[in-house]
Amino acid sequence: MKQLIAKITEIPFLYNSIRCIINGGTFKGKIESLINVKEDDSVLDICCGIGYYSSMFKGEYVGVDNDKNHIDYAIKKYSSKQKKFIHQDIQMINFPENSFNKAFMINAVHHFSDEDNIKIFKKIKSFISDEFIIVDADLSSSNFFQTMLLRYDQGVYLRSLKEHKKLVSQVFDIKETFNFKSRTKSVALCVIRCKLKS
Ligand SMILES: C[S@@+](CC[C@H](N)C(=O)[O-])C[C@H]1O[C@@H](n2cnc3c(N)ncnc32)[C@H](O)[C@@H]1O
Repeated sequence: MKQLIAKITEIPFLYNSIRCIINGGTFKGKIESLINVKEDDSVLDICCGIGYYSSMFKGEYVGVDNDKNHIDYAIKKYSSKQKKFIHQDIQMINFPENSFNKAFMINAVHHFSDEDNIKIFKKIKSFISDEFIIVDADLSSSNFFQTMLLRYDQGVYLRSLKEHKKLVSQVFDIKETFNFKSRTKSVALCVIRCKLKS
């Protein structure tokens, strides 16, 4: 089953369609309001997948992912003078200090161990000046269906909101946390909004 799901994620259109069916649409509207997108934002999308959320931005956007299929699809569909996609392991990226004002990491924290997340967060902290937003599955609010789905996820480091908070607060000051459910109530996600430590 896990291999079948891995195969599906290799076909970006199919992957996106299936998750839209499960969730009753996309999280785009929700993510757009969470990030409070502004025209002059300069954003880093960590583990951007197929680049789906890039379409919300008018200003500079950089998406990074280590899946070549996803990045090729994102380049074909969304790249422009201001939107760039980089095929690289997120742990290897480097940008000058304060290159972006915002960064976000959607459904990707659970792909990394605590130790690797800490290393990634520390890097991100030097790249951004304003805000870092994390959205990920919330194990503590998951229903039976989501728990079953997560068993087949490619990311194996699933956490509750409390565990996310404990992890993230080792690097960032947390401004706000909450959870929300998809339209179909099939999936519960948590949001951790971080401000930079002064
Ligand atoms: C569940 S998907 C989320 C994609 C996207 N953020 C979204 O919400 O549509 C997780 C993504 O993390 C990427 N990923 C996992 N490990 C990575 C790594 N070490 N470096 C870069 N990307 C990675 C995968 O390739 C995949 O596209």
